[in-house]
Amino acid sequence: MSKLKLGVLISGRGSNLQALIDACAAPDFPAEIALVLSNKADAFGLERAAKAGIATAVVSHRDYPGDKPAFEAAMNATLRDSGVELVCLAGFMRLLSPWFVGQWHNALINIHPSLLPSFKGLDTHQRALDTGVRFHGCTVHYVRPEMDEGPIIAQAAVPVLPGDDAHRLADRVLDSEHRLYPHAVRLIAEGRARVDGDLVRIEGPVPELAAVVNPPL
Ligand code: GAR
Repeated sequence: MSKLKLGVLISGRGSNLQALIDACAAPDFPAEIALVLSNKADAFGLERAAKAGIATAVVSHRDYPGDKPAFEAAMNATLRDSGVELVCLAGFMRLLSPWFVGQWHNALINIHPSLLPSFKGLDTHQRALDTGVRFHGCTVHYVRPEMDEGPIIAQAAVPVLPGDDAHRLADRVLDSEHRLYPHAVRLIAEGRARVDGDLVRIEGPVPELAAVVNPPL
């Protein structure tokens, strides 16, 4: 069976990229990374990719001052040339234009460190703490032109615990991101996640989960 070809877009340390690299190393995983593309030449994720023998490319926004269309056209061409079928944003910190998002309609996904639609944007962990929510987490969703919007594929919830600060909470969420992103990619690659309007329908059996209560009963 041929594997779904991923292009992973990064800007930094690439721990979610590492989770995808590790998942793709399993022979039965239905996707493979065709290219890791960074907008920053010094992103640590590029070293992770090189170590795993994965092709890398850098398209720096700094080489296109004031010309976002040319920057995005260069990224788009690089991804197409590598045969990428699904683009995965993994800590890619540039806002993508409606043009780029349209080029990859329903073939572009993002991981965001909150339970969307709560806490779009930056600084999600401190904002969750300040709001007093008892659960926080992460979301993998299809990308639409509006920031942190789009059909939700999968979410992981983690408890907010007494004594948490933003760093502790971020670490807990990040662990859940590393489990969630490969899971979401698998659902797509196996054809189990189907976009239907603004929603993603999950095909196949899904076991019922009991309510999780925090603080515990
Ligand atoms: C992750 O927490 C990811 O959810 C977040 O950046 C971090 C990247 O870490 N993404 C966003 O905030 C996007 N709006 P990583 O480089 O170690 O994967």
